[in-house]
Amino acid sequence: MSPSCEGEQTQGPPFCGGLFLSPNDSIYVFEKRSRFSFLKRGATLDLMSVIQAWFPTYIYFKKLQTKGLTAFNRELLTECYQIRDYDFAGQKWSKKNYPGGYTSYQSIPNIYQLSSTMVELREKIDRHVRAYAKHLQFDLKERTLSMTDCWINIMPTQAVHSLHLHPLSTISGTYYVRTPKNCSSIKFEDPRLSKFMAAPPRCAEVRPENRSFVHYKAEVGHVVLFESWLRHEVGANPAASDRVSISFNYNWF
Ligand code: NI
Repeated sequence: MSPSCEGEQTQGPPFCGGLFLSPNDSIYVFEKRSRFSFLKRGATLDLMSVIQAWFPTYIYFKKLQTKGLTAFNRELLTECYQIRDYDFAGQKWSKKNYPGGYTSYQSIPNIYQLSSTMVELREKIDRHVRAYAKHLQFDLKERTLSMTDCWINIMPTQAVHSLHLHPLSTISGTYYVRTPKNCSSIKFEDPRLSKFMAAPPRCAEVRPENRSFVHYKAEVGHVVLFESWLRHEVGANPAASDRVSISFNYNWF
């Protein structure tokens, strides 16, 4: 049976069950599971010829620019704290909804319009989003992906950003302004997790692409992009000082 995608013919080798293995996987793994039991222990088979991975989840991670980041980040960091200090509504909201931390998510979700530095940041992120969208092969129907929201996150020691996604958006992401040593990573969840039903847990030596979660280290000066439906979280910040980032949404409508 050839694979198909909702009536659309696709190319590739015949689909053979739901097992995904790299070419060098040893067949003895399957000896007790019947399908390949006729193969000798240690024998190998070019499984890439019969099994392919489909429906990938793409995560983009890249340095914002190659030069001049230190001065630019210094300006951004100063502005993040200035905005926090006069954003009383945001402080109040954060106290209730973002314990220990500060976010302008509810109070000033348009910081990309507030200053020339923030406008510059938006323009730089735009380039990364265009590259990411190109890889995703979106057909935008002559529309463009534009930043619609952009907000500050300041996470002191032990502040948490629980599991969430970004509704009503197309592409979301974060730019890291300040990442003290050992600060929290961003953790993404396999979007199919709620559909696994009776699937057994993965073995301890699971290959990266078969993991249910993936962590990206927060690195200053880097931008991470993902499709807005992908659930993610930031665990309690174990670092001794503030982890500062700027998050954003892009939309095509
Ligand atoms: Ni988020």
